[in-house]
Amino acid sequence: MNDYKDDAESTRKKVFIKTWGCQMNVYDSARMADVLAPLGYDRTDDQTLADLIILNTCHIREKASEKLFSELGRLRALQKAREVKGVKVKIGVAGCVAQAIGEEIKNRAPYVELIFGPQTYHRLPELLLRGARDVGCVLDTDFPAEPKFDFLPESQSHSQICGFLSVQEGCDRFCSYCVVPYTRGAEYSRTLTSIIAEAEVLVANGAREITLLGQNVNAYRDDSVGAGLAEIICELSEIKDLLRIRYMTSHPLDMDDALIEAHRDVPKLMPFLHLPIQSGSDMILAAMNRKHNAGQYRAVVERIRKVQPKLALSSDFIVGFPGESESDFEATMQIVRDIEYAQAFSFKYSRRPGTPASVMSEQVPEEVKEERLARLQALLRKQQTDFNKACIGETLSVLVENVSRRDGYMFGRSPYLQTMRVKGDVTMMGTEQKMRITQAYPNSLDGEWVPEP
Ligand code: SAH
Ligand code: SF4
Ligand code: F3S
Repeated sequence: MNDYKDDAESTRKKVFIKTWGCQMNVYDSARMADVLAPLGYDRTDDQTLADLIILNTCHIREKASEKLFSELGRLRALQKAREVKGVKVKIGVAGCVAQAIGEEIKNRAPYVELIFGPQTYHRLPELLLRGARDVGCVLDTDFPAEPKFDFLPESQSHSQICGFLSVQEGCDRFCSYCVVPYTRGAEYSRTLTSIIAEAEVLVANGAREITLLGQNVNAYRDDSVGAGLAEIICELSEIKDLLRIRYMTSHPLDMDDALIEAHRDVPKLMPFLHLPIQSGSDMILAAMNRKHNAGQYRAVVERIRKVQPKLALSSDFIVGFPGESESDFEATMQIVRDIEYAQAFSFKYSRRPGTPASVMSEQVPEEVKEERLARLQALLRKQQTDFNKACIGETLSVLVENVSRRDGYMFGRSPYLQTMRVKGDVTMMGTEQKMRITQAYPNSLDGEWVPEP
């Protein structure tokens, strides 16, 4: 019996997947591992042991492709070193850079055997087989008529306390700076039934929090049952062992009443909302093709704060979009002062080939972008610290996720997504602990454990 098991284990291979980019790429990497498991691949964290290495790439800002090619250079050296020892290592490039510049990767890095996009990784078994037959590279960057979700095996991800679940993909909004509509393709929503089934598997495997993902997650629709994002949230909240629900990323124009009311009516839906505005200037928002102005954004925030006053609000900002004047930038600073964010991401505008903004005149000089970004980030950092400080004295529940780097401690997150350390051990993983907040820092909170009454 044991001999048989040893044999079976020795024939298993190892796959190393490196992930850049958004949480959807994190989700995709996990699902690639699910597709590869029946083919005999187990995921490893050590690339030097891998038989197959997949780079799951992001194309959202510049330097992504240079990063990829320098990583590929390193992997080529590793591949050669292992070849000397008689091991053939396959290299694959997946994700949004693969989708955008697949041909270029094929030409510049001929040792890459597989190139596939975000919508074709369910075909990995076939691609690997073709790769084994053909000499050279297999490239598949189609947007197939069949959605990948219909072909993916059941999720295998074990013991992830906080799981991700893609419910919607792609984007039809075509903001003028953004590559996502080109790399991920058109908007597509999964069926409500398949989402609930996947959530049940995640929870059975240990998930206690699920973040529903989509490039435009609140545009989710399953018209066959008349469901939007709010219906998914309501159904998920019925799963007993699931403690917390989150979602991202939302577009301001798709915040419907049902979703806003869910923030009032569904206790498991966390009081956190990532709602990017990008700029506070109406002229820049129009040039960005965002299709909303600053006033509409403020109105959405008002509606949601009415039902959930202590909501942690987050956003994305782009500074130095073509044509952005000092007064446009000041409008961004002003909306930040008015809204008050709990956290946010901010970026210098990055010219993406093929997007309308990349050829607009009046590109903003690099040093101006840098200086504006520094001012915006200082303000956002202050607001984040203030939000955290306002929690001192409150009792918050913390979902314990994993071991902390500090000995004898675990880490987890508050409902507002703040990081917290909790004294304890692995037996606490997946439980909610009540903590009275005693200290607040820019990126985390500290507190004392409050025993259950
Ligand atoms: N779907 C989401 C965001 C997807 S990309 C939304 O609509 O908000 C994540 C963030 O990257 C964007 O919100 C934007 O702030 C930033 N981003 C996208 N393209 C960019 C570019 N060309 N330059 C700089 N930042 C960019
Ligand atoms: Fe990109 Fe705009 Fe679509 Fe977001 S809504 S993914 S920023 S095109
Ligand atoms: Fe990047 Fe593609 Fe996500 S470009 S941000 S990995 S959708």
